[in-house]
Amino acid sequence: YNSLSSKTSELIMKQVRANPQLLICTATGGTPSGAYQELSQHSTELFSEARFIKLDEWGGIPMDDPGSCELYLQDKLIKPLAIDKERYYSLNSQTDDAESECRRIQSFLDKNGPIALCILGLGLNGHLGFNEPADELRPFCHVAQLTQTSLSHPMIVNHEIDIRYGLSLGMANILTSQHIFLLVNGEHKIDIFNTLLSQSITTQCPASFLWTHPNVTCILDESVAPATWPDGLEIDYA
Ligand code: GLP
Repeated sequence: YNSLSSKTSELIMKQVRANPQLLICTATGGTPSGAYQELSQHSTELFSEARFIKLDEWGGIPMDDPGSCELYLQDKLIKPLAIDKERYYSLNSQTDDAESECRRIQSFLDKNGPIALCILGLGLNGHLGFNEPADELRPFCHVAQLTQTSLSHPMIVNHEIDIRYGLSLGMANILTSQHIFLLVNGEHKIDIFNTLLSQSITTQCPASFLWTHPNVTCILDESVAPATWPDGLEIDYA
């Protein structure tokens, strides 16, 4: 996990050096926290022009709740890297009108997108952000119906607030990113990672749509690596 985190933070910094004003989309959850921690140790100078957008949020949770994606990102990335308000775009979890909040963020992306670097975790059920396995997926920022798997995520499990929905960037927002980093860590992700490696593209595993993207870097730890890889992938044992 430590090398996954260092490698990820190195690769993020490389992208920022190449394009200081880039728009970075950030997932939350357990997987990227080590990488964010590493980034936060570096000089804020490198990030003085970078812009960030939050990938997803739990609906109805207070923005300063310890389980919120907002507090997670504020604590791990936004404050340590001294990202000012003008350079951080964030779905508000506590709005009376979640649909209009999603339209607000979508309209920001329409004007300021596409995302240059999208940092994603792999949901246990194959979700990306809150694009959950379903018969149909949504392209743009939307109010998402959460699966039981997401509702059992460690960030909010046993939470007193009854979380009924999520707010999330959509599949097209993700797939039009110029570069995507997919981080996968831990033995509990082996099954879903193998499903992903099967290269079957299905709405029942939203992450499988990453196969349609020309520029995805998947960074994983040793425990998830399979014995054999599908043909055509560039593998780097860093
Ligand atoms: C949560 C988050 C996502 C995250 C995913 C994986 O639902 N909202 O942004 O990518 O689950 O989380 P983890 O890395 O903890 O497995």
